[in-house]
Amino acid sequence: MSTPKKALPSCSTRSSRRSALNRQLRALSIAVAVAALSPNALGACQHVVRSEWGTGYVGAIVITNPTSVPINGWSVSWRYATNRVTSAWNANLSGSNPYTATSLSWNGSIPPGQSVEFGFQANKNGGAAEQPTVSGAACAVSGPTPPPTGPINVPGLHTLAAFPIGVAVNAGNEPRSLLRNDARGAAERAAVERHFDSLTPGNIMKMSYLHPEQNTFTFAQADELVNYARAHALRIHGHTLVWHADYQIPNWMRSYSGNWNTMLQSHVRTIVARYAGRIGSWDVVNEAFADDGDATAVNGYRNSLFLQKMGPGYIQQAFIAARAADPNAVLYYNDYNIEAGQQKFTRVLAMVDDFKARNIPIDGIGMQMHINIEWPSTTQIKDAMRRVVQRGLKVRISELDIPVNTFANPNRYATFTAEAAQRQEAKYREVVAAYLEVVPANLRGGITVWGLYDSDSWLIALYGRPDWPLILNDELQNKPATRGFASALTGVP
Ligand code: G3I
Repeated sequence: MSTPKKALPSCSTRSSRRSALNRQLRALSIAVAVAALSPNALGACQHVVRSEWGTGYVGAIVITNPTSVPINGWSVSWRYATNRVTSAWNANLSGSNPYTATSLSWNGSIPPGQSVEFGFQANKNGGAAEQPTVSGAACAVSGPTPPPTGPINVPGLHTLAAFPIGVAVNAGNEPRSLLRNDARGAAERAAVERHFDSLTPGNIMKMSYLHPEQNTFTFAQADELVNYARAHALRIHGHTLVWHADYQIPNWMRSYSGNWNTMLQSHVRTIVARYAGRIGSWDVVNEAFADDGDATAVNGYRNSLFLQKMGPGYIQQAFIAARAADPNAVLYYNDYNIEAGQQKFTRVLAMVDDFKARNIPIDGIGMQMHINIEWPSTTQIKDAMRRVVQRGLKVRISELDIPVNTFANPNRYATFTAEAAQRQEAKYREVVAAYLEVVPANLRGGITVWGLYDSDSWLIALYGRPDWPLILNDELQNKPATRGFASALTGVP
């Protein structure tokens, strides 16, 4: 691994600083113990009655964009008990209770902080004018999470840990780039520098970004992020050299008919060699194993392009090439759904055992940990980490996020209630505490959260429902989750 960019204090300095921080945290946790969260009042879509008469009313649905990025195109649905829509304007209306309205060409775009609305006339059908819930992806974007009644003054998380505390960031030409030159970009960088000492590029170091044509590598966006990181004493964790997913495989590679071994090795070698000494750790291969129950799996492997072209040997080829290109880089295999004792995890471990038996280089396992407040149990998480530790490999919690709505209970929290915040705080605390308990200091590759602030999370777009999965709110303020994370690091409840 390359030299850490930030010199860590000596043990004694660190432990006296730690006890001071412990006292500070204890005092603060008492100060905020009675703080209650008010519900998120933003409700991005509202059904309003504009004018009403005996048998009907003119209504509107107002869609507000509370985030810092534009909404491009919207579709909303709602359902009445007795009222019925008789006509609508400024939207394409379909369905007859439930109704769906979609944007027109001229009103699909909603800039940050602004609203659009469309109108309709409704018949009350003998009942009262109703106030139905309006749903849709545009309604699910989370706005600034209201702060608790008192500020949560948690010290910078990375100052509490002797291992990397990281965050995944957008960069380059991506929407919400951390490096954008405006006031919000500056505020986001300040938040990053306060809490984290490691960055994972969420997208811009994937295959299609760095290697868009067979003989062309494009490093400008990645270089910009690496330079920013070095200027601010932040590590970069490289993500990811080989990944099966959709557009991240460049088109030329899909139709490549030459020697795949040579091509893949050259891809890995070129990228790792370029950043040798500047990027200290890599996700060499990401998500190579199939989920439990995946009918397309081939002997447990994900049926990816790489598997089809090279067989499972592509994984070891990538690791061997990465080690050769930078012998000091720490090399991880990274995957999700491996923290609850799944068969997939058993397969990952079998690969590790096989690699070790044959001296194929591998240093650690990235456990993505896209989990939620109810799943997996702490016992399952500890067991999974223990099985990696037993093999002498490093453990990275590589993509942590903890949504409050779950598969089992997807609509439990329409707003970020005090209860949701407390349950999330507890889960963050448990996960971080489990890591400290099970993973010895020399095997701690670090903990990275997958996104900086709540509406930055990939989960909001994925599920199209409200959630608040990260440790900072949209105003970049600490949440109870931040306090949970910090209290596990310090050991102060
Ligand atoms: O940049 C374009 C923008 O120009 C365009 O207007 C917009 C319209 O869809 O798309 C933008 O690109 C999106 C990109 O994120 C921007 O950041 C892509 O559509 C979108 O697919 C991409 O999603 C990323 C996803 O990986 C797929 O690569 C997520 O941000 C990123 O968080 C996610 O990360 C993965 C890890 O790599 C592996 N583990 C799972 C994790 C979550 O899916």
